[in-house]
Amino acid sequence: MNRKMISLLLGVLLVLSIASMATAMGDGNARKGKFLYRKHCRTCHGDSASDLSPNSKTQAGWTATFSDTSKIQCSPDWNGVSEKDLNDIFTYLHDFAKDSPTPAKCS
Ligand code: HEC
Repeated sequence: MNRKMISLLLGVLLVLSIASMATAMGDGNARKGKFLYRKHCRTCHGDSASDLSPNSKTQAGWTATFSDTSKIQCSPDWNGVSEKDLNDIFTYLHDFAKDSPTPAKCS
């Protein structure tokens, strides 16, 4: 394989991985998501100034927010949070949103 071919393949891979990041989330494990949210997100989102809990948004609001996680201001700081973990976190936030049957404040 020549160099051009390799860079073309890398380009295709990059586009594919970006496209898969943009796919809709859902059906994760909310219980794991709660744990992961506390571990990865509450460090910054725990104080009153930037408090973010499931009941901060509606279910539609969470879906919209997570439809493109690259637009969330802090996503560059999510070191070591895999796509799967993020889906669990989304599921937790979504399932306990303020218009869900069981709204929850993450304490
Ligand atoms: C290094 C600190 C830090 C970490 C860690 C962090 N965030 Fe953030 N996040 C911020 C800051 C700062 C903002 C922008 C100001 C604000 O809205 O509080 C923000 C904004 C957001 C917003 C947009 C706020 C809104 O009302 O729509 C979402 C959603 C969000 N973060 C989710 C997360 C999730 C999910 C995680 C864990 C995977 C996470 N954050 C981890 C600092 C952080």
